[in-house]
Formats: sequence, structure tokens, C-alpha cells
Amino acid sequence: MKTISVPLSNGRSHRLVVGAPLEKLGAALSRVVTGRRALVVSAAPIARVHGAPLVRGLKKAGFAVSLALVPDGERHKQLRVVQTLYPQALAAGLDRRCPVVALGGGVVGDMAGFFAATYLRGVPVVQVPTTLLAMVDSAIGGKTGVDLPEGKNLVGAFWQPALVWMDPSTLRTLPDRQWRTGMAEVIKYGLIADKSMVKLLERKTLADLKKDPRLLANLIGRSAAMKARVVSRDERETRGLREILNLGHTFGHAIETVTGYRDYTHGEAIAVGMCASARLGAALGAFPVSAVDRVDALFRRWGLPVRARRPLPRAKILHAMAKDKKTIDGRFRFVVPVGWGSAKVVSDVDRGTLDAVLSAVGL
Ligand SMILES: NC(=O)c1ccc[n+]([C@@H]2O[C@H](COP(=O)([O-])OP(=O)(O)OC[C@H]3O[C@@H](n4cnc5c(N)ncnc54)[C@H](O)[C@@H]3O)[C@@H](O)[C@H]2O)c1
Ligand SMILES: [Zn+2]
Repeated sequence: MKTISVPLSNGRSHRLVVGAPLEKLGAALSRVVTGRRALVVSAAPIARVHGAPLVRGLKKAGFAVSLALVPDGERHKQLRVVQTLYPQALAAGLDRRCPVVALGGGVVGDMAGFFAATYLRGVPVVQVPTTLLAMVDSAIGGKTGVDLPEGKNLVGAFWQPALVWMDPSTLRTLPDRQWRTGMAEVIKYGLIADKSMVKLLERKTLADLKKDPRLLANLIGRSAAMKARVVSRDERETRGLREILNLGHTFGHAIETVTGYRDYTHGEAIAVGMCASARLGAALGAFPVSAVDRVDALFRRWGLPVRARRPLPRAKILHAMAKDKKTIDGRFRFVVPVGWGSAKVVSDVDRGTLDAVLSAVGL
């Protein structure tokens, strides 16, 4: 078991616990919150396979537990669904000291976190991520929220968890495509901050990872610690430090937008995006040209795409990139790798360079 402490401003802090069984959460939580009623928020397919040990542990630690289910999937990440949780929490008698426990992937975590941020003006939330992506990314950092028809994550709140509890053994039921999508974020952390992790990932495969719990816990722990470190220094994304975590995301979000979030998972889209970023870095002299193929090979090794599967309309890609939240005053901003294990933000990329990069990844 590994514990990572996340210090924040004003003396606040919380812990990320990696590699502890779900059943042990209750005892740990009883030392973090004073309320003894807990609302577990989850989706039916997740609760069915992973709910029992979590609930058992909570009850053993003295919590009265209620379960609130939300429908599964991104298309349900909506205010309408969050709204169904308030009456359930009231009926269960949750007061301001009582925790909400989010058991699931990023969709459940974002919704339950937003619910916790707003119920009674804020109650503690515990993130219990059950996808690789949620473990290394969405459960950490305190961003919560829901989608609007106009776009993703347009309503939300910063609401830091009281505790993040990761049991990598819950991933045994995760479909391969979800493993790979999470691995795209893990590879991202290697590229932006950890050369030795890149080297490790160049030797391993998904099959290795699934049968080696120590390797899995190691990669999750390193990735989570990296995100936590950036969040500690730039909790509300005001200092520009969190921007570095967006390697490949300006391109990736554009791919997701233009394909209507149907053809690519998030990890697949940012994998193509990171291959584009490597080429952009090379074109700008920040990243060795000879290393671009090595980036592609790494994503291929983990079953991720390195170029668009089908050409997408260039004008639509550029339009989507212009609407990216990193774009300031209409000037594109990209994160590009700088050597191995380091990255920086660039702006003022000329259109010719950008076109060449997009063409190189089939966009
Ligand atoms: N808050 C943040 O900082 C942040 C960061 C990145 C992503 N996100 C958000 O996270 C969401 C994506 O999260 P995700 O990739 O976890 O997707 P998800 O929550 O939709 O989960 C993917 C699928 O896996 C299933 N699942 C979850 N755990 C499982 C398990 N252990 N075994 C079998 N199936 C399981 C889910 O039911 C779902 O069908 C997006 O809404 C995105 O906006 C938020
Ligand atoms: Zn991402």
C-alpha cells in the first residue's frame, strides 16, 4: 500500500491511498470524517461487481450506508441525473459532516463530486475510482462537474476529495479498451515528467500489466503522484502549471469533438494528439526528430492509435482547436515534449507548421 499526501493551500490536505482493498476504506474514512451516514454513489454495473466489499467495510466501521445509483455512461453526466441524488441524501439523513462515496469511473466521480460540492453547500466526498483513467486522472485534482448540450464539463466546481482510495484489483473487470484509454494518460505522465517510466513502458505490454499487480500499483502510484504534485502547486489552474497535463489534449479534444465522441475513446484521441505534439515539438526544434518514431512505437505497443483512422475535415479540426479552453485571444497554445520526460507550452505556431503536423497524423 502506498499513501500519497496532497497538500493544498490554507493548510488543507488529503491522502491518496493506492493498493488497499475496498473493504478497508470504512475504517480509514471513520478517521477522516465525523458523520456516520454515508451515501455511496455508483452505477449499476460497477456496484454489482465492486459494491459489496465497500459497503461491508463501511458498515463494519459504523456507517449507516445508503446506495444511490446513476445511469451508466457519459451521456448521463447531466444536472438532471445529479438532481436525483439530493432527495436520496435527504431521505438517508445525511448532514454536513457525512461523506458521499463515489464508486466508479470518471463519470460517476465527476457527478458525485459535483453533488457533494453542492448538497448542503458542500459535504465531504471520497473518490473510489474503478477505471485506470479515473485512478491516474479524474479522481485527483478536485475538478467535478457535468456536461451541457453545448459541450463537456461546462458546469462544475472545484471540490477536493477528503480521501482518494484506489484498489487496482477492481480493474480486473475492466474491458481492454478502457485499460488502453487509461494507459494513454499513464504514457502522458511519462512523456511530460518521467523518463524512467517511459523506458519501463517501452519494455512492458498490457498483458504484463494485467498479471503483475506490483507493476500496476507502481504505474498508478507514480502517475497519481505526478498529477497530485501539479495540483498541489496549481489547485485552481490559475498559475498555468496544470496546463502541462494537457499534452496531446488540444489535438485530442478536437478529434473527440469532430467525431462527436463516438469513434475514439478519450485515450485514443489524445494518443493521436500526443503523436501530433511530438511532431510539433520536432518542427519547433524542441524535440529530437529522431525520437518521433519512438513516441509512435510506444503508443502502438499499448494498442493505441498513432494517426487518425479516417481523415477528418481540416476546417472543423481547426475550429474545434480554436474553441479549446487553452486558446487565449484566438492564439493556439500547445504542450509539446522537450526531450524525454519534460514538456513545455508553445503558442504562436504558424499555420504552415500546424498543417504539416496535422497531415502527418492523418488529420
Ligand atoms: N475531473 C477531472 O479532472 C477529469 C479528468 C479526466 C476525465 N474526466 C472525466 O472522466 C470521464 C471519463 O472517465 P472514465 O474513462 O473512467 O469513463 P466512465 O466513467 O464512463 O467509465 C467507463 C466505463 O467503464 C465501466 N467501468 C467502470 N469501472 C469498471 C470496472 N472496474 N470494471 C468494469 N467496468 C467498469 C463504466 O461503467 C463505464 O461503462 C469523462 O466524463 C471525463 O470528462 C474528469
Ligand atoms: Zn485526458
